[in-house]
Amino acid sequence: MASLVVVMVLLGAFIGHHQATEAARAFFVFGDSLVDNGNNNYLATTARADAPPYGVDYPTHRPTGRFSNGFNIPDFISLKIGSEPTLPYLSPELTGEKLLVGANFASAGIGVLNDTGVQFINIIRMYRQFQYFQQYQQRVAALIGEDQAKQLVNQALVLITVGGNDFVNNYYLVPFSARSRQYALPDYVTYVISEYRKLLLQLYDLGARRVLVTGTGPLGCVPAELALRSSNGQCSAELQRAAGLFNPQLIEMIKGLNSELGADIFIAVNTQQTHYNFITNPQAFGFVTSKVACCGQGPYNGLGLCTAASNLCPNRDIYAFWDAFHPSERANKMIVDQIHTGSTEYMYPMNLSTIMALDSRV
Ligand SMILES: *[C@@H]1O[C@H](CO)[C@@H](O)[C@H](O)[C@H]1NC(C)=O
Ligand SMILES: *[C@@H]1O[C@H](CO)[C@@H](O)[C@H](O)[C@H]1NC(C)=O
Repeated sequence: MASLVVVMVLLGAFIGHHQATEAARAFFVFGDSLVDNGNNNYLATTARADAPPYGVDYPTHRPTGRFSNGFNIPDFISLKIGSEPTLPYLSPELTGEKLLVGANFASAGIGVLNDTGVQFINIIRMYRQFQYFQQYQQRVAALIGEDQAKQLVNQALVLITVGGNDFVNNYYLVPFSARSRQYALPDYVTYVISEYRKLLLQLYDLGARRVLVTGTGPLGCVPAELALRSSNGQCSAELQRAAGLFNPQLIEMIKGLNSELGADIFIAVNTQQTHYNFITNPQAFGFVTSKVACCGQGPYNGLGLCTAASNLCPNRDIYAFWDAFHPSERANKMIVDQIHTGSTEYMYPMNLSTIMALDSRV
């Protein structure tokens, strides 16, 4: 009888523990500045967001390395899945139990291609983000054992956001860039997509089984491009053409991968559509403008960096763009709300709430 009680207690503890790990599903983030939580703070690079007014609306009101006035897209996803924000992989605080929350490997300035963002010098390119992910898995295996570590990775949610810089900080960085002399735009898009496909397969090989893959926003409509390339406030036609070619091919590539792998591993997030809604009708979303950045200088506040010397809007919630390239905290929240409950127009083949319901049943 006593031993039965012991078994029951142990079983209870086991079930309790199992539920606890389920509630705290790990979250891994890869990609560029849209999702970097502060890795670049630890690198010798000019692509950084570690000075005010970045972070002005973050709970600490201090810069963190996020390219936002407050939370960014991964932070809002962490909230949706009920976990704390992931730490940057390079943070010295990421040790022990904290490793089980997941990690953020993203680095501002990077692209699918290694030659994207060369001007930022020392940034963590995609192959290196994956090397760190392998190293992370070894550290977790040392903590909880090989099998548990593998399970933690297989059951995790993964986000990858990359590709915009392959246009902005490569093909269109300077007139007659090396890549634009090498490829016509449609051929370049095909090439970037084929390299992106290899990256997604590497993520699969590293154990990822639920991966949110975002497209690019409307690249030609960000304040930086309005300032640089537009005389009348219209989105840059060339960059819009690039995004218009890239995003649909990304979705097709993802469909192909899933059917090859026989499972819905990769989920296409149509950020182009969500952003486009803000841009065509900002007032409907409570923004006074989607053209002018909150922080910056020059036309549309779109030139140069956001620094302590820049114009800063008093109410960040009514601007769709925080700086010349990055959405405001409130726009980030709206993007993640679409990820969570959006229809198939925004999320293919399903949204995050459906993923969470499905995966909690396994
Ligand atoms: C990027 O560089 C790494 C390391 O040198 C290499 O393994 C990888 O194939 C390169 N990727 C591309 C797209 O050239
Ligand atoms: C997305 O989420 C909503 C509710 O949260 C649900 O009703 C809807 O069916 C979902 N759509 C897809 C395509 O998964």
